[in-house]
Amino acid sequence: MQISALFTALLATASITAYGQAVDMAYVTAVITALNAANLTSLAGAAQAVANTTEGAAFLASLPGSNKTLFAPTNEAFAGVPESVSSNTTLLANILSYHVLNTSISPSQIAKDPSHTIARSLYRNMMLPGNQSQAVVFNLANDTQTGNQSLAFPYQNNATVYGATTPVSAANFMIYPIYSVLSLPGTLAEVATAALPSLAGLVTQAGLLEPLSQAKGITVFAPNDAAISAAGALVGTLNATQIQTVLANHVINGTVVYSTLLASANYTSAGGEPFKFMTNATGAFVTSGNTTAQIVAADIPIANGVVHIIDRVLANPVGNTAAAQSAASSYAAAATATTSGGSGGGVVGASSTMGSATGSASGAATSAKAASAMLSTSFSTGVVGSAVAIFAGIFAGAALI
Ligand SMILES: *[C@@H]1O[C@H](CO)[C@@H](O)[C@H](O)[C@H]1NC(C)=O
Ligand SMILES: *[C@@H]1O[C@H](CO)[C@@H](O)[C@H](O)[C@H]1NC(C)=O
Ligand SMILES: *[C@@H]1O[C@H](CO)[C@@H](O)[C@H](O)[C@H]1NC(C)=O
Ligand SMILES: *[C@@H]1O[C@H](CO)[C@@H](O)[C@H](O)[C@H]1NC(C)=O
Ligand SMILES: *[C@@H]1O[C@H](CO)[C@@H](O)[C@H](O)[C@H]1NC(C)=O
Ligand SMILES: *[C@@H]1O[C@H](CO)[C@@H](O)[C@H](O)[C@H]1NC(C)=O
Ligand SMILES: *[C@@H]1O[C@H](CO)[C@@H](O)[C@H](O)[C@H]1NC(C)=O
Ligand SMILES: *[C@@H]1O[C@H](CO)[C@@H](O)[C@H](O)[C@H]1NC(C)=O
Ligand SMILES: *[C@@H]1O[C@H](CO)[C@@H](O)[C@H](O)[C@H]1NC(C)=O
Ligand SMILES: *[C@@H]1O[C@H](CO)[C@@H](O)[C@H](O)[C@H]1NC(C)=O
Ligand SMILES: *[C@@H]1O[C@H](CO)[C@@H](O)[C@H](O)[C@H]1NC(C)=O
Ligand SMILES: *[C@@H]1O[C@H](CO)[C@@H](O)[C@H](O)[C@H]1NC(C)=O
Repeated sequence: MQISALFTALLATASITAYGQAVDMAYVTAVITALNAANLTSLAGAAQAVANTTEGAAFLASLPGSNKTLFAPTNEAFAGVPESVSSNTTLLANILSYHVLNTSISPSQIAKDPSHTIARSLYRNMMLPGNQSQAVVFNLANDTQTGNQSLAFPYQNNATVYGATTPVSAANFMIYPIYSVLSLPGTLAEVATAALPSLAGLVTQAGLLEPLSQAKGITVFAPNDAAISAAGALVGTLNATQIQTVLANHVINGTVVYSTLLASANYTSAGGEPFKFMTNATGAFVTSGNTTAQIVAADIPIANGVVHIIDRVLANPVGNTAAAQSAASSYAAAATATTSGGSGGGVVGASSTMGSATGSASGAATSAKAASAMLSTSFSTGVVGSAVAIFAGIFAGAALI
């Protein structure tokens, strides 16, 4: 019986963490009843399967307490998970923890396509600065098959994952059934190879793939294939060192800057050059040297940071090693200062590459294509539902322009 499965799992966890946690029977029963009422019985089984692992025990023990959102794969979704994944309890525990947000999000708080909401999950892979947890990016969009408005996760490997827009409430959970299991953010190499093959080639050739993959926190402005092909003539005139510098000028080394945070500070590239950011009615733009590119897809989470896809190569061959090192050290120092282990929750913000305003966390989501908007809502911590924070964010965004 699946009901008893999750029950057993939680009990097993409770015994593992017996000295710290009391088992709240009413809590356990409420969550199980809700999952079963929604036919989400495989999720209960998966929870049982991971209960004996360190990761799984920590995950299950972190569920009670503050409000949470659970993206709950349906039984059909679980049925599609390959054996190599479902039988790997460490991996399964990581995947489950990526399906939980440490905050509750109601449908009205979710940004509408082409905007999206960025929120932190409970999944920590030790590859983000300050050991922050990984972000989940989602919005409300029309399912391309049914045409119905759905919960949508646009950056799941190749295909958007859809889910229900009506959550089930249970205990401290808002539970949204989803129709596929979310995959963990891939490495830069995986994401680039799948979506940005020209960039992957250049970066590998320049010997930068390894350093970029090892950085604890990177922000990559990644030119798409068309951009790289358009820059072919220019790239041909540069020597290897210059190509390396140009590529380094597409990266912030040591910090993960989601689009909502681009306006919150001045950032220096891994090549040592300053970035400038700007939004107008067309969209959001990034400048390095004398090239400006449009951000055509923002906030693609990767294992050690975030990728924003841009439509031009930032052809800035100027490098400043001292400035690059100084920036990297100050980002590293900031990450150390904010290391907190526990505060992994909440909404990072709502954002769009189209300059759409989203008053996301207030419940008053608007998707007007307003000029000042892309950087308008930014949350430094896991605060959700604070109108004050939202309006302060909009002010900051407006002041940018
Ligand atoms: C945990 O592992 C033990 C020993 O391997 C096993 O007997 C027990 O059934 C497992 N518990 C769960 C909840 O899977
Ligand atoms: C759960 O599954 C049963 C049997 O397949 C079905 O009758 C019921 O409508 C389902 N409930 C929900 C909420 O999907
Ligand atoms: C937690 O969720 C409940 C039910 O949705 C809500 O009433 C409460 O205000 C939330 N608490 C916080 C701290 O957001
Ligand atoms: C299980 O998953 C973990 C985490 O992804 C991985 O490190 C490990 O190699 C996997 N084990 C097997 C047997 O595939
Ligand atoms: C989604 O579908 C509804 C009708 O079902 C339509 O009114 C709306 O414009 C569509 N939205 C988008 C972004 O296509
Ligand atoms: C993405 O799609 C391509 C071709 O459609 C396929 O070869 C590749 O394996 C897919 N990648 C993932 C991660 O699903
Ligand atoms: C990032 O900065 C660190 C120093 O904090 C340095 O060791 C590393 O090489 C840099 N990586 C890149 C890709 O610039
Ligand atoms: C690459 O070109 C720059 C600018 O012309 C020059 O300063 C540098 O020495 C060249 N590097 C190599 C390795 O050729
Ligand atoms: C960026 O630097 C400029 C010039 O030093 C300064 O005026 C501005 O306030 C800085 N912006 C932020 C967000 O720190
Ligand atoms: C927005 O800025 C970009 C880059 O400078 C420019 O190409 C575009 O025309 C501008 N759009 C509007 C509506 O001003
Ligand atoms: C752009 O930058 C390059 C390299 O610094 C320089 O050669 C070129 O003159 C600049 N173009 C403009 C229009 O400023
Ligand atoms: C979730 O957020 C609360 C504050 O709302 C915090 O106390 C707790 O440590 C967070 N839990 C995790 C697992 O990050």
